[in-house]
Amino acid sequence: MSASSLAVVVLAAGKGTRMRSNLPKVLHPLAGVPMLKRVVNTARELSEDIIVVTSPDAETVRSALVDTDVRIAVQERQRGTGDALAAALPAIGADVDQVLVLCGDVPLLKAATLQRLLAATLTEGVSLVTARFPDPTGLGRILRDGQGCITGIVEERDATVAERRIDEINTGIYLLPRAQLEDWLGRLDVGNAQGEYYLTDVIRFAVEADLPVASITCDDLAEVTGVNDRAQLVRLEREFSRRKAEQLLASGVTVMDPARFDVRGDMHVEQDTVIDVNCVFSGKVVIGREVQIGAHCVIEDATIDDGAVIAPFTHINGAHVGAGSRVGPFARLREGTDLGEHCRIGNFVETKKARLGAGSKANHLAYLGDATLGEGCNVGAGTITCNYDGIAKHPTVLGDDVFVGSNSTLVAPLNLADRAYVAAGSTITSRVPEDSLGVGRARQRNIDGWKRPKKTTEAD
Ligand code: UD1
Ligand code: CA
Repeated sequence: MSASSLAVVVLAAGKGTRMRSNLPKVLHPLAGVPMLKRVVNTARELSEDIIVVTSPDAETVRSALVDTDVRIAVQERQRGTGDALAAALPAIGADVDQVLVLCGDVPLLKAATLQRLLAATLTEGVSLVTARFPDPTGLGRILRDGQGCITGIVEERDATVAERRIDEINTGIYLLPRAQLEDWLGRLDVGNAQGEYYLTDVIRFAVEADLPVASITCDDLAEVTGVNDRAQLVRLEREFSRRKAEQLLASGVTVMDPARFDVRGDMHVEQDTVIDVNCVFSGKVVIGREVQIGAHCVIEDATIDDGAVIAPFTHINGAHVGAGSRVGPFARLREGTDLGEHCRIGNFVETKKARLGAGSKANHLAYLGDATLGEGCNVGAGTITCNYDGIAKHPTVLGDDVFVGSNSTLVAPLNLADRAYVAAGSTITSRVPEDSLGVGRARQRNIDGWKRPKKTTEAD
C-alpha cells in the first residue's frame, strides 16, 4: 500500500454573474448549507489538505472559511480554470503526489464517487469523472479514440458539429499528478474560443506524454450537476429534498407528498411518524417514533420525542418536545423551550426559554418567557409572563399543579409555589405561597340606577 499524499483544490473564483447576486455564487445555500461548504465537507472525507481558489474581491468567501483549516489561494484575474489551478500551485506542498480538483459550484458530489475515482487512478496518471447528460449543452465533451481511450476534452464553443453530438461530458472533477502540474499549467495558452486558460487541455498533455488516462462515469447526474443560476440551484435543492423524502419513506416514515417536503439540514426520523404536506425542516432535527407533524409546520433545530403531535401551522425553533405532547395548531416554540412528557401548547401560544414539567398546559393565547413550570400546571388563556423590564429578563417559576386563571399577568421575577391558584384577570407581582389563592385585581362594584347613554338625533 502506498501512502500517497492527496491535496484537494476547490475552484471557486468564477464570477458567477448568472446568479445576479451580491453574494458570491459558492456562498448561496443549497438545502441550508452554502455550496462551497458542502464541497469542502465532501473533500474533508478524502484529505485534510484543502485549498480553495477565490477571486481577490471575494472577501465574504474568505471570511466564510476563516475558522477552518482550509487554505485559500487568490486568483488575481479570472482567466479560466487552468489559471485557477495555477493560482493554487504555490500552496500545494512538495510532499503531495496527487491533486484532486473540485468545483465550488457542484454541491451534491459524494465522497464515494471520489473514492471510486481514486481507486481507478494510477499515482502517475490522470483521471476524471465523466457523465452522460441528456442535454450536454454548454459543457465540455469527452473525446475518445476508436478503442474508447480518452484523447482529450473539447469545450462546446470550440467543438465541431459532430463533437457537439457527444453526450459524454466533463464534470470538471479531475485527479492529476502533482509532478506534472508546473509543466502542464505553464504550457496552457488562450488560443480558444473563450480566450481562457483551459484546465481541460492537461488531459491532452497527459495523452501526449503517454501517461495513463482513466475515467469513471457518474450515473447520478444530480451529483455532478453544476449551479450557474438560481433556477439550477432551486432545481437541485428540490432534488435533494425529494431524495430525503424517498429515504424516509423507505425507512418507515410517511411523507405525505415528497414534492411538498423541504429539508434544509440534517434530519433523523424514526419509524411510523407521519409528516403532512408543506413542512420545512432546517438545521438539526430529530424526530422519534409515531410522531404526527401537521401540514405547514416550520421546524428548525428541534428534538421531538415519540408520540408527540405537532398540529398544523406550528413554528418550532430550538426546542425540545417531550413524548406524547401536543403542540399547535398555530403555536410558536422558540429557543430554549423544553416540554416534558404529555404537555399541551395550544393555538397562539408563544414560548421562549420555557421549561414545562410533565402534563403542564397552556392551551390558548399565552406567552411564557424565561419560565419554569413544574408538573401538572395549567396556564389559562391570555396569560403572559412579563419577563422583560426593558433592560433585563427575569424568571417566573411555578411549582407543581399550579393553576393560573385566564388573562393573568405574571410580573417577573415571580414565584408561584406548589398548588398555588391565581384568580383570573390578576396582575401578580409577588410570590403566591403553597395552596393559596392569589387575587390581584380591582374588586368589582355594580352601580344601581345607572343610565345607559341614549342616542341623540342632533348632530354635535
Ligand atoms: C468547465 C470545463 C468544462 C466542464 C465544466 C463542468 C474548462 C475549460 N471547462 O467549464 O469542460 O464541462 O467546467 O462544469 O475547464 N473558475 C475559477 N477561475 C476561473 C474560471 C473558473 O476559479 O478563472 C472556477 C469556477 O468558480 C467553477 C469552476 O472553475 O467552480 C468551473 O468554471 P465554469 O466557468 O463554471 O466552467 P466552464 O469553464 O464553463
Ligand atoms: Ca467559463
